[in-house]
Amino acid sequence: MRGFAELFGLRTRLHLRKLGRTWEFGMTSHPEQRWLRNYAAQRYRGVGAIVDLGCFLGATTIALAEGLELNRKANRKQIYAYDLFIWNKRYEARARGKEVEGLFTIGGSFLPEFLRRTQNWRDYIVIHEEDLRHARWEHGPIEFLFIDAMKSPEVATAIASNFFLHLVPAKSYVAHQDFPHCFAPWIHFLTFRLRDYFRFVADLPQSSLFRLEREIEPQALAGDLSPGAVRSAEIEAAFDYSMSLVRDDKKANVTAAKAVAYVERGELTRAHEIVTQTRYGPASRANEFNKVKALIERKLTTSQPTSHNVWRPS
Ligand SMILES: C[S@@+](CC[C@H](N)C(=O)[O-])C[C@H]1O[C@@H](n2cnc3c(N)ncnc32)[C@H](O)[C@@H]1O
Repeated sequence: MRGFAELFGLRTRLHLRKLGRTWEFGMTSHPEQRWLRNYAAQRYRGVGAIVDLGCFLGATTIALAEGLELNRKANRKQIYAYDLFIWNKRYEARARGKEVEGLFTIGGSFLPEFLRRTQNWRDYIVIHEEDLRHARWEHGPIEFLFIDAMKSPEVATAIASNFFLHLVPAKSYVAHQDFPHCFAPWIHFLTFRLRDYFRFVADLPQSSLFRLEREIEPQALAGDLSPGAVRSAEIEAAFDYSMSLVRDDKKANVTAAKAVAYVERGELTRAHEIVTQTRYGPASRANEFNKVKALIERKLTTSQPTSHNVWRPS
């Protein structure tokens, strides 16, 4: 028996190594997709569902499905993939020069393309074409929640209230893909408020991974996550906490996210102080630190009112 298990283990590792060279078009990197595939193949136990929030064209969903296909321990093998599946101007800009250029119209659905790309894993995927601000989770416990859709404080609150109560203490993981993204400061308020429930586990290639340690009390999920509604003392404490979690190579981006929180409050002087008095940056992922600094300086010189659209991530 042991010989068979070892043989299967070896085959899985070889298979994963081969798949590890592949990459699907999307907004997640090669190392992120590889991590998700390996997680689903080797660590996922099947005590709850895998949920992919903001699956876009299926890159993360496919990586998870490829992993599940190789997983010999988990009986449960389904990924719940959520998205609006609506193409917009930002995606159009990103698609320029790529394999998907010209395939979609702004405001139109990209669900058919998601279906085409994921067709080999049809049995593994349950599609939810819906707005996460109104989604209701009704599929039992969740073991792994991959979040790449907390693009506004409202969506962040809705996701937390709807999905987090279904995580299993000591067994379930949440990966926040946008943790080092400069335009999603509300994720830092949320993780700070929930710090007594979740334990930070790992800095993944982009995401930050947390494990639920104890059952969440619903009232802990109810607060407003808009930067304007959070007291500045809490903003400072939340970002001190986040900075203590992430590796040095993400600190300039997290610092930029803190500055963005103050921009959203209309406190440009404090925002500028943050980007000029930090020991992190200007080097950062996707040059976000410099982009945020330049935007703040532009606003300071032209006294532009804060436009929320400028700051929303894709
Ligand atoms: C950055 S993309 C995700 C990229 C994807 N994980 C990948 O690997 O390519 C964010 C996705 O979140 C989705 N999204 C944003 N807000 C949403 C909402 N309120 N409800 C459902 N999906 C939403 C968008 O449609 C988009 O596909």
